[in-house]
Amino acid sequence: MVVCAGSQGVDDAPVRAHCVGMNAFDWARRSGGPPEILFDARGPLSAHLLDVLQRPVPESGEMLAALLPATEIALSQSVDVLRDDDIQLALFILYGLHYGQVLPADEDWEWNPSLITARLALEREFEKRLRSCVPMPALPEVDSDAVAGALFDLTAPDPGPSLSRYAAKRATPGQLLEFLVQRSIYTLKEADPHSWAIPRLTGRAKAAMVEIQADEYGGGLPERMHSTIFAGTMRHVGLDDRYGAYVDNVPALTLTSLNMMTMFGLNRRLRGAVAGHLAAFEMTSSIPNRLYGNGFRRLGYDTNVTWYFDEHVEADAVHEQIAGRDLAGSLAEDEPQLLSDIMFGASACLTIDGWVADDMLDAWSKGLSSLRVPLAVQSFATA
Ligand SMILES: [Fe+2]
Ligand SMILES: [Fe+2]
Repeated sequence: MVVCAGSQGVDDAPVRAHCVGMNAFDWARRSGGPPEILFDARGPLSAHLLDVLQRPVPESGEMLAALLPATEIALSQSVDVLRDDDIQLALFILYGLHYGQVLPADEDWEWNPSLITARLALEREFEKRLRSCVPMPALPEVDSDAVAGALFDLTAPDPGPSLSRYAAKRATPGQLLEFLVQRSIYTLKEADPHSWAIPRLTGRAKAAMVEIQADEYGGGLPERMHSTIFAGTMRHVGLDDRYGAYVDNVPALTLTSLNMMTMFGLNRRLRGAVAGHLAAFEMTSSIPNRLYGNGFRRLGYDTNVTWYFDEHVEADAVHEQIAGRDLAGSLAEDEPQLLSDIMFGASACLTIDGWVADDMLDAWSKGLSSLRVPLAVQSFATA
């Protein structure tokens, strides 16, 4: 029997829809209702933005004109944009207009100049803050083997507490549910943030990224797309796999992790950072995914649940080589001025995702939920 674990405030109809594999838009079509926004504002800026986006573009009027001042006020009052719920949700919403499926909105909003201006103001402070707090590694020689070596050194396993080791040996069923909820913000869109960079790269680096991303997108088989496999994992443990269903639940930093990838991917001048980010991401995937799979196996789950993690054990052992030498290394050789950003992007990946993991372990060590809004139902489907 499947027990759906819905998020608070979501009635059970969409959850039921989800359990049988429909997405939010399918559900809306079949139920005759409009697509819904599955999450709430977290402050004045995100509230303002959601208000604007629920109108057709021609009717946005004064609300749209007031968006940039609202953005500047939010930025001026923020203590730390990396952990600021309102600012990170606003960025998540603005990027969502490019991804689609994040919230229902008039598609004409995507390139609206006022929204792009607000986005650039947010990105400016976001990037500034990242560059001030992400440790900058020593730069290797401009040589593909040296760059790959430096990235492998940077991403070498840390002997300290690790989320994946905890998941393998000790995590409770409820904690593994939380882990999937946290991961769903990126993984239900797996590969898309880095793919923005494909047309922004050239030559060997572009070919390498396409080779990696082709695997992420299932090698031509939609049912093997990693995002689709992950959605299956969510359904098989009774979670809601609609994109956005758990946005309210996750802390700001989880949104920050996705927003950072998106910012790197969408800005051509940051193509070095997105290459470094993907390299670090792939280099820290194979062994942890084996451990995550072991955690679910320990609790009696079969391959319907572990397929996603098992798939990454071998795939990312290959991807990390391509990402290190052929993507990041070749990019450094072909565009040496990007070397610093390649290492910055890798370090930013390790730093932000490291903080996300540390916060989860810290909460669990105190017997607390790692979520901003704990799940309404903490129940696994039967294995
Ligand atoms: Fe993947
Ligand atoms: Fe991969």
